[in-house]
Amino acid sequence: MLTGKTALITGGSSGIGLASAQKLAASGARVAITGTSVDKLYDARVILGDGHLALQADVCSANDRATLRDRIEKEFGSLNILFANAGIAYGTPIEATDEEMFDKLMNVNVKGVFFTIQSLLPLMSSGSSIILNTSWLNQVGLPGRAVLAASKAAVRSFARTLSAELLGRNIRVNAISPGSIETPIHRKGQSDDEFAAYKSRVGAQAPIGRMGRPDEIAGAVLFLASQASSYMLGAEIVIDGGRADL
Ligand SMILES: NC(=O)c1ccc[n+]([C@@H]2O[C@H](COP(=O)([O-])OP(=O)(O)OC[C@H]3O[C@@H](n4cnc5c(N)ncnc54)[C@H](OP(=O)(O)O)[C@@H]3O)[C@@H](O)[C@H]2O)c1
Repeated sequence: MLTGKTALITGGSSGIGLASAQKLAASGARVAITGTSVDKLYDARVILGDGHLALQADVCSANDRATLRDRIEKEFGSLNILFANAGIAYGTPIEATDEEMFDKLMNVNVKGVFFTIQSLLPLMSSGSSIILNTSWLNQVGLPGRAVLAASKAAVRSFARTLSAELLGRNIRVNAISPGSIETPIHRKGQSDDEFAAYKSRVGAQAPIGRMGRPDEIAGAVLFLASQASSYMLGAEIVIDGGRADL
C-alpha cells in the first residue's frame, strides 16, 4: 500500500507514534521517527528494524528541526507522509497553573506542530499527506484541562487552515482525534498497581468501557497516509470509544 513512500513521525519512539510507525513500515513505507530521549529512540529503532531511521530532535528547537530536515533530505530525498504526533499532556487547573506550564504545553503541542510542518514542507511534493494528532479533549470541557484542550483545538484548526493553504500544492492535511489511549503519556511515575487502578477508572469513563490501544489509532493514521483517503481534506477522524460524543 505504501511501497516506495517515505514517512516521518515526530514523537515516534513510543505510544501512538511508535504503533503508527510499525503500521506504516509494515505497509511498505520507509519510516523515520523522532523524540527527545535517545534511549527510547534506540529501543524503538530495534522494534522497527533495518531500513528505518530514529533521529533525536526536539520539536521546540529550530536547530533540531533544521538538522532533521537535512537528514531526511539526505536519507530519503523527499517526504510523502508527515505525522506531526509529538505532544505532551498534563493538567492545568486555572488557579494552579503558572506561565511556564502554559508555555511548555503550547510550545510542544502547537508551536512544535506548526514549525515542524513549515520546516519539512520543502521536501513534500504533490500527493503528500500530513496527519495531525488532536484529542477528544478539543470537543469537550473537561475541568482542569483548559490548556491541553486549547492546544489540541488549535491543532484541529491547523488541519482546516493548512488544508486550504496547501490545496494548490495537492498536499492533504487531516487529523486523528484519539480518546484515552494506553500510552506512557498517562503513566507519570505511577506504580503498576496505581496504573492498573487508573486504567480501569479512566476506561470506565468511555462508553466502550476501556482505554484504547495505540494500534487502534495506527489504523486511522495508515488510512490518512494512503490514497484510500484521497477525498479527505481538513477532516478529523475521532477514535475515542465514544468518549466525546455519547
Ligand atoms: N494517549 C492518549 O490518551 C492521547 C489522547 C489524545 C491525544 N494524544 C496525543 O497523541 C500524541 C502522542 O502521545 P502518546 O499518547 O503516544 O504519548 P507518548 O507515548 O508519551 O508519546 C509521546 C511522544 O512524543 C515525544 N515527544 C515529547 N515531547 C517531544 C518534543 N519536545 N520533541 C520531540 N518529541 C517529543 C516522546 O518522546 P520523548 O519522551 O523521547 O521526547 C514520545 O515519542 C500526543 O500529541 C498526544 O497529545 C494522546
